[in-house]
Amino acid sequence: MADNNFKQQDNLGQDNLGQNQISSEDNKNIVQEVKDEARRKLLKNTAYATAGIGAVCAILPFIDSMNPSKDVQALASIDVDISNIKIGEEKKVMWRGKPIFIKRRTAQEIDDAQKVELAELKDPQADSDRVKKGKEEWLITIGICTHLGCVPIGGQGDYKGWFCPCHGSQYDTSARIRKGPAPKNLEIPPYEFINDKTIKIG
Ligand code: FES
Repeated sequence: MADNNFKQQDNLGQDNLGQNQISSEDNKNIVQEVKDEARRKLLKNTAYATAGIGAVCAILPFIDSMNPSKDVQALASIDVDISNIKIGEEKKVMWRGKPIFIKRRTAQEIDDAQKVELAELKDPQADSDRVKKGKEEWLITIGICTHLGCVPIGGQGDYKGWFCPCHGSQYDTSARIRKGPAPKNLEIPPYEFINDKTIKIG
């Protein structure tokens, strides 16, 4: 009787063990399932990456078309040789359809510009804020009168700067408005010295 009980318990134990064990067939199925899942993920990621690259490729020509052409870029800035401008002379160039005055000032013109009190000016601005430090003899301005847009004449007027023949505005040797209807100083364009002989405007 006691032997029978042991045998029954032993059989029960083996049955339970069998339920918890994974058969080799199940094992194969699980491995296959893991492989399939990995393949699905790879395909999905590849599809996303391909779609992303496609979108970038599609938009590139559009972005490129928004960039200025080489001709326009060339006009956006110009290099000017200033080596042939003598002291006291002025050179005019065109930049973006506007006249640019490049004036090489004399020591007297610099001195006249620097000693003016800001309180005397309609559009107060120190001469040092209108030239590059260490390059005080060079004054570069947009040659358009700030009244109604005429082109002033250099070396004329009471201040020996620029005189506008249209309505009589007068600018000093820093091209600041001193007399007449113009409300503002001649504008300074963006520029930089590339070296002692060349400036880049724009
Ligand atoms: S446009 Fe120069 S003073 Fe009027």
